[in-house]
Amino acid sequence: MIALRALSKGTGRARRVVLRAAAKVNLVLEVLGKRDDGYHELVTVMQAVDLSDRITLEDADVLELRCDAPGVPTDSTNLAMKAAMVLREAAEVTRGVRMTLDKHIPVGAGLGGGSADAAAVLVGLNRLWRLRWPRARLEEVATRLGMDVPFFLRGGTALGTGRGERIEPLPGRSLGLVLVNPRFAVSTAETYGRVTPEMYTDGRFAKTLGAGRNGRSPARVAASLYNGLQEPVAAAHPAISRMRAALLAAGALGALMSGSGPTVFGVARSYEHARQIRRRLTRGAWDCWAVRTLNGPAIRMSA
Ligand code: C5P
Repeated sequence: MIALRALSKGTGRARRVVLRAAAKVNLVLEVLGKRDDGYHELVTVMQAVDLSDRITLEDADVLELRCDAPGVPTDSTNLAMKAAMVLREAAEVTRGVRMTLDKHIPVGAGLGGGSADAAAVLVGLNRLWRLRWPRARLEEVATRLGMDVPFFLRGGTALGTGRGERIEPLPGRSLGLVLVNPRFAVSTAETYGRVTPEMYTDGRFAKTLGAGRNGRSPARVAASLYNGLQEPVAAAHPAISRMRAALLAAGALGALMSGSGPTVFGVARSYEHARQIRRRLTRGAWDCWAVRTLNGPAIRMSA
């Protein structure tokens, strides 16, 4: 009887959790001004897309992160490791975890890859460590890790305000997009450092896009794209304008830099059209993906 109970307890406990963490693009990113805390006040429309990292979490005595991708740190400077450390302390857990990160989202790319990984670690450890924390409690920890992390706990399409961390879901729409990355990274802090008051806007682009998203055609979405960080990054990196021009020449309805860059995305008429555009771009020295927007969660647990 005792042995049986011990056995069922053992099998009931998750020893291994596998997650997929999807990237995002910013359909709109407006800088409203500078805040007293050093951050910038933003209004942004964030959209999850189906380009994902894979993260495996295994019960362990130690805290450990493994990642084969070149240039990806495995210490506490990696947001995935930081997420595990911060949650472990906040939840007063004594167990560790062995994390294996299989990177597909480019790093320092404006696609929120590091933030998505961090959100996946929070969701996965909530399960592995059987914390049963509600999302609101995970969101508090997420904000301590970075302003993009709370978005990934929800996914789909969302309006971000404040420093980008206050998230409200918006109705989603299925879109085909093409992502183009120039194989160099850009620092988010440096990008924000280049913003000057002439680049501030008043939220009108987010309002236009948010207002009619329900029945909006890809052409209308393409016409509403705006990123206040694009100009300073394009001034420092001519590749931004070249990638946008190449996307438009290949048939994209509109093209914009995502987040703090340097990845640029193009809006297609459909996913099939996005694949066509991607094929036309493969001669360049860039990495290109045709992706679908995700209406559901950005973090998905595999069996
Ligand atoms: O939130 P996260 O840690 O990703 O931000 C990285 C840096 O980007 C911040 O340290 C800050 O310099 C800048 N930032 C900003 N305003 C925001 C978000 C980020 O100035 N709303």
